[in-house]
Parts: sequence; C-alpha cells; structure tokens
Amino acid sequence: MTTSERVLAEATRRRTFAIISHPDAGKTTLTEKFLLYGGALGAEAGSVKARSGRRSATSDWMELEQQRGISITSTVLQFPYRDHVINLLDTPGHRDFSEDTYRVLAAADAAVMVLDAAKGIEPQTLKLFEVCRDREIPILTFVNKWDRPALQPLEILDDVEKQLGLTPTPLSWPVGSSEGFRGVLDQRTGEFVRFTRTARGATMAPEEIIDPERAKSEEGDPYLEAVDELGLLEAVGAEYDEETFLAGVTTPVFFGSALTNFGVRLLLDAVVDLTPSPIPKTDLAGHERPLDAPFSGFVFKVQANMDKAHRDRTAFFRVCSGRFERGMVVTHEGTGKPLATKYAHTAFGTDRETLDEAWPGDIVGLVNANDVRIGDTLWLDDRVEYPPIPSFAPQHFAIARVTDTSRFKQFRKGISQLDEEGVVQVLRHPDIGDQAPILAAVGPMQFEVATHRLENEFGAPVELSMTNYSEARLTDDESTPDLRSMQGVDVLAKADGTLLALFESPYWLARLIGERPELTLEKLVAGAS
Ligand code: G4P
Repeated sequence: MTTSERVLAEATRRRTFAIISHPDAGKTTLTEKFLLYGGALGAEAGSVKARSGRRSATSDWMELEQQRGISITSTVLQFPYRDHVINLLDTPGHRDFSEDTYRVLAAADAAVMVLDAAKGIEPQTLKLFEVCRDREIPILTFVNKWDRPALQPLEILDDVEKQLGLTPTPLSWPVGSSEGFRGVLDQRTGEFVRFTRTARGATMAPEEIIDPERAKSEEGDPYLEAVDELGLLEAVGAEYDEETFLAGVTTPVFFGSALTNFGVRLLLDAVVDLTPSPIPKTDLAGHERPLDAPFSGFVFKVQANMDKAHRDRTAFFRVCSGRFERGMVVTHEGTGKPLATKYAHTAFGTDRETLDEAWPGDIVGLVNANDVRIGDTLWLDDRVEYPPIPSFAPQHFAIARVTDTSRFKQFRKGISQLDEEGVVQVLRHPDIGDQAPILAAVGPMQFEVATHRLENEFGAPVELSMTNYSEARLTDDESTPDLRSMQGVDVLAKADGTLLALFESPYWLARLIGERPELTLEKLVAGAS
C-alpha cells in the first residue's frame, strides 16, 4: 500500500464527533457506555478512573470544577469500534463556555445531541445546537433515560422540530417506556430489538432480534403501538435522508437508556454508518487540501495543564491531511518556525498517553508548544494556512487589576496565558496597557475561572470591576478616533492587534450603524446570551 492509499484508508475509518447536551442529560454516562461497546475494557476502566479522578483531584482547578459540578476542560477520547476508529471530543456542559464548545466543534465532523426523555430540549441544548448549526455539522439525536417516566415520543420529536427547526427522522422507536421499556424497533430493518438489563449496566445489554410475528405475540400492545406510531411518521415523510442529514436539516433520532445500555449499540452503529469520515479541509485561499497531501493540522484548543506539579501547556490540533508521526518537525504557520513534536500525546481527562502516529480526523496534544495559538496551522512540506476560528462576541466586560502590586509580573503572565487559552478575551487600551486590561467574556462564569486561576496558578490575586459595556464590534484604525470621541464608546486592542469597539448602549450602536455607514463596525460570531 502506498502512503497515500494508507492515509485515505485510515481517514475513511475515522469518525470524529462530539456529544452535546444540557448538564445531567447523560453525556458522561453515554461516553462511558460508548467505551464499553468499543470493547476497550481497559479504556473503560481508564475512563471511569479519569472521571472519578477528576472529581476527587485535589488541585484548586479541579476544586472549582467540583464546586460548580461542571466540566470546564474538554478533551478527546479515542477507541476502536467495528474496524473503525472513533474520536470522541468532550465539550463543556455549561453555556458560559459555549465558545470553547464552538472551538471543539471546529474539530468535529458530527455531533450527538443527548436529550433527557423527561425534559426534551433544555436551554443549554438549544445553545449548543445553535453552535452546531453555525458550524454546519450533522447531528444525531439520542433520547436518553427512556427507562424512567418520560414525555411521549411524539412530544419529543415535536419539541426538536419546533425549538430547533430541525426535522427529526426516527431510526429507532421505543417499545414500552419507563419500567416497561423493552426494546426498540429498528426503523431500517423493521425488526424488534429486545434488550435485557444487566446489573448496574456494567456490561453490554444482551439483545435479541425478534421478527414481527413473534414480537406481536410476546410483547402485545406496546409493540403494536410502536409499530403504529412509526408507521404514522413514515407516512408523513419523516424518513431518514442522507442528504438533508449531512446538510444539518434533519436529525436521525434514537431512543434508549445509557444507564441500562439500551439502544447504545444502535446509536454507535449509526455514528459509524451515517456520520461522515474526514473530508479535505478548505484553506484560507479557498483551496481544498487533499487528505493524502503532506501532514497538516489546525489547533483548536490550548490548555495549561491543570496539574500543579507539571505546569505545562498543551496545544491540541486536529490532523487534516497526511500522516502525523511523533518526532516530526513541522512548520508552525503563525511564526514560520519549525516545531518539534517529540511530546505528542492523546488525552482524556487528566490521563495522557504518548501517541506515535495520527491520521486525518485524529486529535493530537502537543506539550510545551509555547508559541502555538488557537486557530494556528501546522504543516509539513507544502505550506497551507487554514482559516482562523472566529471569536465569539463577548457580552460581559470587566477591568482586571492585581491587588498586590508586587505580583504584577505574574499577573501579566497569567493574563496572557488565559488569553491564549481563550478562557477570556483580553483587551488593552494603548494608554493603560497591561496595568488594567479589560477581560471580555461570553458568559460571566468565565470571569470566575479567570480570577480563580490567576490567584491559584499564577499567585496573582485580582480585583474585577464590571464595566457598563454590553456590545462589541470589530473596527479599524480609521474609525477609531471618531469612536473614541463618543461617550459610552471605547476602542481596545486584542493581543493580535485586532481592534474591538465597545458600546455601553446597544441603541447607540444601532443608531451608528444606521447613520454612520462609513464607520467599520463588523459583527462577531454571535455567542450564547
Ligand atoms: P451529564 O454528563 O450529561 O451531566 O450526565 P451524567 O452522565 O453525569 O448523568 C446524570 C445523571 O443521570 C446521573 O445520575 C446518571 O446516572 C443518570 N443517568 C444517565 N443516563 C441515564 C439513563 O439512561 N437512565 C437513568 N435512569 N439515569 C441516567 P446521578 O444520580 O446524578 O449520578 P450517579 O451517582 O448515578 O453517577
């Protein structure tokens, strides 16, 4: 096999996706069950360890995660399934971190949206869905917790359609519900898949494939009702359609219970059978880089190691083309400098493992790649530059000042680190600079993370004073003097030189847009609000 054939074959085997859900809908449980079905028993034990390790870790960072009961960091998990390689990207559950989710989704080819069967679409589901829509990635829907009292299946489909504007196309349909949840109809084969519970769902749920005649006699009414309902949906055209699924217009729906493992295999099969393998990525100039071109990748996440004992910084990139081999010297497009990749690893939670090679769709973490920023391209042999990952429009702005001036150096270092990681956006006024930068966030919880980390990781306690700014637009040098002369408006710079105009009043901004078309006031990507 030539290298090119090998790259294409490996790319075809990859499925890279993320799970999105409102907190508590069952994302963690489902992730663990995917591992179980991936047959990676060792990996399953590892993940459970990572999870409990995460919850009991003593570092302050973990403490914050623990106190808030949320997962702030996102990571990747790789496991084999049916001769395929699954890359599962973890996304933070809280909406204040939806910008982080957005960046993670830049590295995903599809998403699985998990709904709580008793709740349907919840606020955070909606926000995360909007991020997916923005990224134009196909979404599979998993209606979880069917082993508990739930809404009617049709109510849930209705909710998906009305709240998300996404047409649901069920590929499985529940037979029975709550305690009486027996299994699902597989829409594609018409067969009834009956599940058996196992103790605590610790092992795969045994499945029996049962033909319609037997199902009718053994399951009775719940089976007949399910057949009727699914038939009704087919009659109104809610049938799976590849083109509209890939375009993000329809979503195949699966019912199940991650806790008891019911329906997990069907869902994982759908990830493999329906979601796309990596495709060539379009560069900044509009050219597609073939999958079998020399190595290239882009960085979608930068994270300081949360372990105090090893204070280092990891840049995560997704391989877009070619074969990545640990030790390769690649070019960092941002600086044009060569970058050694001796310390390449995969990571899930706080665990990491050295990685020797990777293919399109895979995620690699590079330790101590210090100049590398979010959105940067890495390449080998043929230069390529991928489009940057746009920043969200911040809606909260606070002035940060170090409370102990002897810690100013640490404060500066911490602020620029948080900026690079995208924990908050850091804006500076040319006259004030680093003395009192403005921290800009999509959600206020980002401030909590920033102040907590400045104090605990960098030893630089800070005081934040909220400002009255509520809107930000991209602007330029020409418009700056005029904007600065206005009351309730200021222009500040990001580390990369981008200028942001901040407005206290959305009405004033709206008026300027209408009356002063010569001013540059470009919209940023809409974030969560
Ligand atoms: P998240 O990552 O989306 O926040 O959710 P997570 O998996 O942690 O699940 C949240 C709670 O819902 C957990 O219960 C979990 O056991 C439960 N759960 C997940 N899937 C199902 C399901 O299919 N059926 C039922 N009945 N429950 C489910 P917990 O009591 O908060 O935690 P735990 O002590 O059970 O881990």
